[in-house]
Amino acid sequence: MSYTAVVGLQWGDEGKGRIVDYLAESHQVVARFQGGANAGHTVTVDGQDYIFHLIPSGMLRPDVIGIIGAGTVLDLEILIEEVERLEGITGVSAEGRLFVDGRASIVMPYHKSEDQWEEVYRGGIGTTKRGIGPAYRDRYARIGLTVADLFSDELKPRLEKALDFNNQILGSRYGKPPFSTGDMLQYLNELRCKIRPFVADVPTKLRELEAEGKDILLEGAQGTYLDIFFGTYPFVTSSHTIAGGASIGLGIGPNRIQRIVGVTKAYTTRVGKGPFPTEIKDETGGWIQEKGHEFGATTGRPRRCGWLDLVALRYAVLINGVTELAITKIDVLSGLKEVKVAVAYEIEGKEHIYPPMTASEWAKARPIYRTFKGWEEFWGTMLPVEAEEFVKFIEEELGVKATLVSTGKERESMARRW
Ligand code: IMO
Ligand code: MG
Repeated sequence: MSYTAVVGLQWGDEGKGRIVDYLAESHQVVARFQGGANAGHTVTVDGQDYIFHLIPSGMLRPDVIGIIGAGTVLDLEILIEEVERLEGITGVSAEGRLFVDGRASIVMPYHKSEDQWEEVYRGGIGTTKRGIGPAYRDRYARIGLTVADLFSDELKPRLEKALDFNNQILGSRYGKPPFSTGDMLQYLNELRCKIRPFVADVPTKLRELEAEGKDILLEGAQGTYLDIFFGTYPFVTSSHTIAGGASIGLGIGPNRIQRIVGVTKAYTTRVGKGPFPTEIKDETGGWIQEKGHEFGATTGRPRRCGWLDLVALRYAVLINGVTELAITKIDVLSGLKEVKVAVAYEIEGKEHIYPPMTASEWAKARPIYRTFKGWEEFWGTMLPVEAEEFVKFIEEELGVKATLVSTGKERESMARRW
């Protein structure tokens, strides 16, 4: 009976879904604690790719229990579609296997509309347009709707209040027509019956599962540098993506989470706008993008590619309390003559081993690289000597052991190093 958090140490897309799916073999419960359908978690089983946005990745294993915590923002249409798809894949009903906290926020159609127009208005962060920012904004402004509101007499007055505010934004700022109370009530009514079987009080459910001796995985979405507080603000998402978010978003004491697995690719990617010191602007960037299939699982956008950044990772290890590393996609780099790793930044003539506080300083950072000899293709899960040296260097610099190194897309392509 233990809690293990799995969090991204970069700008998302680190391969968290793959690591969660792998660890789910030895855990019985997987819980999502923040974010929403902006996440795109890909798991490959028997040569087939499965992408989920809201359902915890580990649920592809039919005996794993899935939990969605209060800290998430849920697009109910997507959630229901994924539940049905999951049932089709596993052949097992999700009832009694998926539990959604009634306190979780609902992403409404007007949030998605606003996210769209806000992007035009602000000049763009390059969001996934899934309504994440507006839904969290309404939560903190205390006019958001929760899953439990669907079953309350107060649904209509609460919806009216939310619409009053959101329609004003859509109308006066973007010149868009209002959403009507009638349409929105009908929309929620249709989803209400489908979501009802899954609604639960997550903190007590987790205690119950703990008492049964179950091992619980906490699945992070996005990554450290998309965190609302510690990311490259304002080029971030709207939730707490770091390990501490797991405690907040699920309602479990921070002292319960003893194992924190930080996931990083063997290089770096970023989708959307914002500073990215180790971005590769020449053909090597395109080569990695092609070879690593670096196109967004949620939006299909090409991901910007760059070298591994130990400055960013060093700080990520610190603020997440990472106890072990999982390195993904190391096989993508094979065939390169040289592989680079940033060990420090130079910002206006000064050397830094930790990242700066503002996005504008991040944008000025010049990486100081250390260059490694490349390696040839992988044979199974054996790391070539040069790749082993690369991994050892990362471990030494970050002061944590890399216990998992993925060498391919399939479940079994995983080097275990403990
Ligand atoms: P997973 O879980 C990569 C990025 C968007 C944008 C910024 C804000 O697959 O790692 P948002 O829609 O959240 O308001 O967008 O965050 N972003 C992600 N990038 N992977 C993700 O999730 C992301 N979720 C959001 O591209 O730059
Ligand atoms: Mg993604």
